[in-house]
Amino acid sequence: MTKKRHHGHHHGLGIDIGGSGIKGAPVDLDKGKFADERLRIPTPQPSTPEAVAGVVAQILDHFEWDGPFGCTFPAVVQHGVTQTAANVDPSWIGCDAQGLLRAKTGRKALVVNDADAAGIAEVEFGAAKGHRGAVLVSTLGTGIGSALVLGGHLFPNTELGHLEIDGYDAEKRAADSAREREDLSWEEWGGRLTRYYQHVENLLWPDLIVVGGGVSKKFSRWQPYVQTRTPMVPAQLLNDAGIIGAALLAHQEH
Ligand code: BGC
Repeated sequence: MTKKRHHGHHHGLGIDIGGSGIKGAPVDLDKGKFADERLRIPTPQPSTPEAVAGVVAQILDHFEWDGPFGCTFPAVVQHGVTQTAANVDPSWIGCDAQGLLRAKTGRKALVVNDADAAGIAEVEFGAAKGHRGAVLVSTLGTGIGSALVLGGHLFPNTELGHLEIDGYDAEKRAADSAREREDLSWEEWGGRLTRYYQHVENLLWPDLIVVGGGVSKKFSRWQPYVQTRTPMVPAQLLNDAGIIGAALLAHQEH
C-alpha cells in the first residue's frame, strides 16, 4: 500500500463499533462509497473502552490513516461522551469516548450514535438523498436506532427505540432481535412494527421513514404488513451506512 494514499480532501475514515465486530474503512466522500476494502476485527470481550480503543488504533494503523476519523457507537453520545449502554458494556456510561480515542490513537476523533451516522449517510448518499424535509431513519437490529434529519441537519440522540408503548420498552417488542427471539412470522412482526411506527408518526409527522438494519434487505417480505401514513422505504447503504456517515461527520467537523 502506498503511504497515505487515501489522504485527499474528499476522503475520510469511518469506524463502526458494534457488539460483535469493529469495522473500519476509508470512504470516498464524493461518492459515498468505501475507497478500500473494509477491515473487521472482533470486538474484544469484555468490550471495555480501553480494549475497544486499542482495536480502533489497530484499524487506523492498518489503513495508515493519521487524519481525523469518525466512530459510531450503539448508544447515546453527547458531545463525545457515551451516556447510555443499552446493548453494550456498562463501563461506557459517562466515558469521554472521544477524549479516550484521541489520547489512545493520537488522531482527532468524532464519536457519534450509530443510527445518527447511518441517518446522515442515507440522506447524503442513500435512500433519502437530497431530501430537504423531515426524514426519520430507523434501524432495526439488536435494538431500534433512530435518526431525525431535517433539511440535511441532524437532531442527535433521539433514542426513539426506547419509547414506552403498551408498557414495554419499544425495542424489546419490535426490534429485529425480538422477531428472532420470539420466532415471529413476518406478519406478526409487521403488526408490532405497525404499532411502533404509527406511534412515532403520530408524534413527529415525518415526511419519510427510511428503515435500515440488516433486515431492511428483506423489506419486501415484511413491509406489506406495516401500515403507516408516512411513505416508508428501505435503506440503501445497508451495513456501510454507519461507517460512511461517521467519516462524513468527522470530515465536516475538523
Ligand atoms: C440504543 C441506541 C442505538 C440503537 C441501535 C438502542 O438500544 O439506545 O442508542 O442507536 O440501540 O443500536
